[in-house]
Amino acid sequence: MDKHPIPCIDRGSGGARLVVDGAPFLILGAEVNNSSASDLRFMAPVWERLAGYHCNTALVPVSWELVEPVEGKRDFSLVDGLLAGARDHGLRLILLWFGTWKNGVSQYVPSWVKTDLRRFPRSRDASGQTTRMVSPFSRECQAADAACFAALMRHVREADAGLRTVIAVQVENETGILGSPRDFGPEANAAFPAPVPQELCAPLAARRESLQEEFRAGWEASGGRSSGSWPQVFGDMASEVFMAWHLGRFVEAVCAAGKAEYPLPMYTNAWLAYDAAPGTWPSGGPLARLHDVWRAAAPSIDLFAPDIYFPDFKRACADFHRGGNPLFIPEANAAGGESNVFWAVAEHDALCFSPFGFECPHPWFPDLGDDRPALREAYAFLAAMLPVITRFQGTGRMRGILQTGDEKELITLGDYRLEITWAGKANDESVRGRGLVIDLGHGEYLVAGRGFAIRFLPLAGQGGTVDFLSLEEGTFQDGTWVPGRRLNGDDTFDFAVRIVHEKGLCARKAKLYRHD
Ligand code: DGJ
Repeated sequence: MDKHPIPCIDRGSGGARLVVDGAPFLILGAEVNNSSASDLRFMAPVWERLAGYHCNTALVPVSWELVEPVEGKRDFSLVDGLLAGARDHGLRLILLWFGTWKNGVSQYVPSWVKTDLRRFPRSRDASGQTTRMVSPFSRECQAADAACFAALMRHVREADAGLRTVIAVQVENETGILGSPRDFGPEANAAFPAPVPQELCAPLAARRESLQEEFRAGWEASGGRSSGSWPQVFGDMASEVFMAWHLGRFVEAVCAAGKAEYPLPMYTNAWLAYDAAPGTWPSGGPLARLHDVWRAAAPSIDLFAPDIYFPDFKRACADFHRGGNPLFIPEANAAGGESNVFWAVAEHDALCFSPFGFECPHPWFPDLGDDRPALREAYAFLAAMLPVITRFQGTGRMRGILQTGDEKELITLGDYRLEITWAGKANDESVRGRGLVIDLGHGEYLVAGRGFAIRFLPLAGQGGTVDFLSLEEGTFQDGTWVPGRRLNGDDTFDFAVRIVHEKGLCARKAKLYRHD
């Protein structure tokens, strides 16, 4: 048997898992700043820093402009240096293909693409002005991007054979059009009043009942038609859906060409937006409400990933963890990462959590680049218990704990209700409650984290009193529980698991019973 099969996403029972070297792999990642990976000397101390944070994976850009500075002449020496740097530090890699689009513009295309507006036309806004984005209608750009990406994947397959340093690839970055709801170039203007392709209408009509709710509501509000022009079929959503389809088709061509060479898991990421006009964010990007369109347009893409800088972390997670899309967070605010990571991996079975750009100073976020001891502690703590987390992901027996208010919370897990109260205020990151709880079975619960207390109560309508048979603290070493003190007396005050005054993250195992 191949000890290092190609990493894949296993969608077997209980949700999706990333499988690396034949075993579930949860990514505790870090995405480096946009320019860091363009220079191997700059990266030398960065690898060290990420390994010191207990990351198991680095997310690093590979840009079209640096791989193919001259058309048809490709240079993968930088990629080879990134592979070596990661391997030397025991890290896996996710390559971020900065091809035709990055954050709604085309600043990473090679200069031979930038300067040839005839072959590689820009999209235009409603006034006819060119935008900074190559048009998704540029067939030449699609072919050139796909060819270079395919060559990259071929190279990675050969250079990484048997090692599987690279475990996934991001195709493009935060696609969409900025500054305009859609492309108003000549080809786009001809396509917009033409019939919506049946390759889109047919799957939407076939899945009408299981479409994302807000997409279906918008479609039905405009008549729910399955033929007609874009404005006729999609009404107010037409510009966004039109862009999503055409961007999706382009991304599909790039992704499929890469997978034909080396079928690693591939995803594409979204700049999040809620309640704002399309074009104030990259319009047509893979927002959750457009997943049904993107899925029809880009079937080779394995999942759609949110970049979460948005303050309502819970909303963004729930939004992307629906309709069969596994949660995979390639970018998140580094601030608060030490708490949010628990919610992502335990409540939403996330395959990846990766704060952005904390390895060196950032041009606009002054606190990036600072040391983040709380994140280091959270990653060390989670790294030691990863086998336990991956075992319970997708079983419905693990819940996340993340304090977003100061009221107590009540959840049901297994045979008990859990009343969670908080040690401090939600708006104070240093004490904010964060953690996870696992129903290990037979009345045994694992509670991990800090800043909260849990009292176990009988199920609604059941009555009786719940008590501890035993409560112990402990640690994990490579996924194995190492028991510490047996807690009783003052340490079980109020018959609760209390991780309230502790300065660091803790784990406890409680065995419970109920008497009437
Ligand atoms: C989202 C992008 O995807 C990243 O590459 C980076 O630009 C961050 N925003 C913020 O700096």
